[in-house]
Amino acid sequence: MTVSGLLALDLLASALTALAWLGTGAAAATRRPKAALAVLPVAVLLALARMACVIALARAGWWFVQEKVIIAVPLLGLAVLVAAVLAGPRLVEAARGRRVAAARPIVVMPLFGAGFAAAAGLVHTLLLGYPATWSTGLLTIAFFGVALLVSWRIACPPVRGLRPGMSAILAVGLLGTGLALAPGEASDLGGVSDEHHARHERRGEQAVPVTSLRGPTTPTESGRVRRYMLTARTSTIALSSGQQVTAWTFNGQVPGPPIVAVEGDLIEVRLRNADIESGVTLHWHGYDVPSGEDGVPGLTQNAVMPGEEFVYRFLATQAGTYWYHTHEVSDLGVRMGLYGTLVVRPRTAPRTEGVDLTLPVHTFSGMTVLGNHDQPIEQRAAPGMPVRLRLVNTDNTPHRFALTGTPYRLAAIDGNDVIEPGEVSEVGLRLPAGSRYDLVFTMPLELDPAGNGEVRLIVDDRIEGLRLTPPVSGASQARTPTKAAKTAATPSPGPSGPVTSTASWPELDPLAYGRPATPPFDPSAPADRRFTLVLDQGLAMVNGRPAYAQTVNGQAFPSIPTQKVTEGDLVRIKVVNRGRETHPWHLHGHRVLVLSRDGRPPTGSPLYVDTFDVRPGEVWEVAFLANNPGMWMNHCHNLAHADMGMALHLAYEGVTTPFHGAHGG
Ligand code: C2O
Ligand code: CU
Repeated sequence: MTVSGLLALDLLASALTALAWLGTGAAAATRRPKAALAVLPVAVLLALARMACVIALARAGWWFVQEKVIIAVPLLGLAVLVAAVLAGPRLVEAARGRRVAAARPIVVMPLFGAGFAAAAGLVHTLLLGYPATWSTGLLTIAFFGVALLVSWRIACPPVRGLRPGMSAILAVGLLGTGLALAPGEASDLGGVSDEHHARHERRGEQAVPVTSLRGPTTPTESGRVRRYMLTARTSTIALSSGQQVTAWTFNGQVPGPPIVAVEGDLIEVRLRNADIESGVTLHWHGYDVPSGEDGVPGLTQNAVMPGEEFVYRFLATQAGTYWYHTHEVSDLGVRMGLYGTLVVRPRTAPRTEGVDLTLPVHTFSGMTVLGNHDQPIEQRAAPGMPVRLRLVNTDNTPHRFALTGTPYRLAAIDGNDVIEPGEVSEVGLRLPAGSRYDLVFTMPLELDPAGNGEVRLIVDDRIEGLRLTPPVSGASQARTPTKAAKTAATPSPGPSGPVTSTASWPELDPLAYGRPATPPFDPSAPADRRFTLVLDQGLAMVNGRPAYAQTVNGQAFPSIPTQKVTEGDLVRIKVVNRGRETHPWHLHGHRVLVLSRDGRPPTGSPLYVDTFDVRPGEVWEVAFLANNPGMWMNHCHNLAHADMGMALHLAYEGVTTPFHGAHGG
């Protein structure tokens, strides 16, 4: 069983255990000892099953069971034991009609106690999560105590000593809350001792403000300057079908103007804000720009407010497919359309050959669009023509792509070339939020059995996104001349349509794709810094407000300790997902090398990514070389999750920010 399956089973077992014990208690309280006795063995078995779940989960890692092992299971075990000793024999007597009343507190309350103990474990897991602390322990016990006393009062009145009991429990609860609200550590040194840290601090010359870490103003010798001006404004745009949607746009269009350059060029983008009231910035997703150009409001710059502007400059040092988006109120801003693509061609191949399409996928009021197409994009491509499709996921959740009609190669992931990408067909490509895949192939020379020679890109196994068709003259030799033209003109998938088949195609695993090779830095070398991020949901303060937050190590932005690194460090980050949602993890300013997923290292080409999906129950370990000094965001790229607290900073020693810092957008 998978870890996420076990996590779900554990929740279910806890809930059923609670119900069963509360049921026996209720039966006893209403003087039905036989019914209580009938449920009792089930309740015991459920409690044991719950404990078995925890044992099975523990094998996946301590992060998944910590609060269960330390708090929930001992509490449940103890309560079940008490119930068995106190209530069990008395229930048997009562059922035999002896003069023992089943409704006495000494019978009823232990049964309820076991029920509330099971429920308390559920409450800890769902509301408090990871890590287990004194605070979460006290709060769980307070919940248990309150529930027990209240039910005592209801089921077996009158109760002596209820008041002092309640006061004691409330005191426990208050202490737990107080501990939870106490300010925690401001930074995480990643296992480096304080003295070592201090030595670095002292050795470091003067502090460098992040605002001084800017790009150059001239290109490299062989490059040129690529100037763009992007004006952010609210607007109404027309999708390809003619449908109008209200959007936040760059230059009145969605996606914003594509930014293209050749390696070595200087990219200069002047951002203006016409009327986006909440402000706007530009973040170059996946591009390792100098920190001062990174576009994080409150950290590297202030948000650009209406009437203001900001100029970004950076060298096009990485060839590949990237994208840009606003980082101020980014969940709403990106959703509304403040994004575009950034493609840098290698210096060795500055011009495109054949068909080269950049296809950002986005969801607009429930519609899936590629670029601004809410209908299939029609593109002519002659047989034998090279094709490159650059898929960009600008949404908050993954999309699954499938290509029909030709084998192809996954040439690049997040802008990084895959080494010897093998030819694949009939596979699904799961593209994490924020990520990019480059697909390459040549248009088929032979017509397929269906006789159409078409290549189609299917999104989420149901939407035809792109149709590449040979020119009509080429296709006409093989079949009735009008058919190709007809299919091409019909926006909805035809009868030979794609919807039928791709859903059953297996998913390509990027960790097992391409040829292994030695990465440029030794990932097995002892890391200078090690960080662990345990992702979950729970009660926490998000920007000063209590919320059911998306948490990292039990905390939410901006209270999650800042990760500190020193330039030159080899840094390892472990990301554990013990929640129920996928978290596309994204570090700014660096691409990370994947070391392992669930303890298993990749078997294919070294996998460099800037965003990786940590699915429920998964544990990823990644490494990077700290070679881009600055202050960086490290966050979930489901931007709604980032908004709900799942974001933190990674800061180099000696770099400071003049901005308030407590805003990640
Ligand atoms: Cu594309 Cu901080 O994000
Ligand atoms: Cu997330």
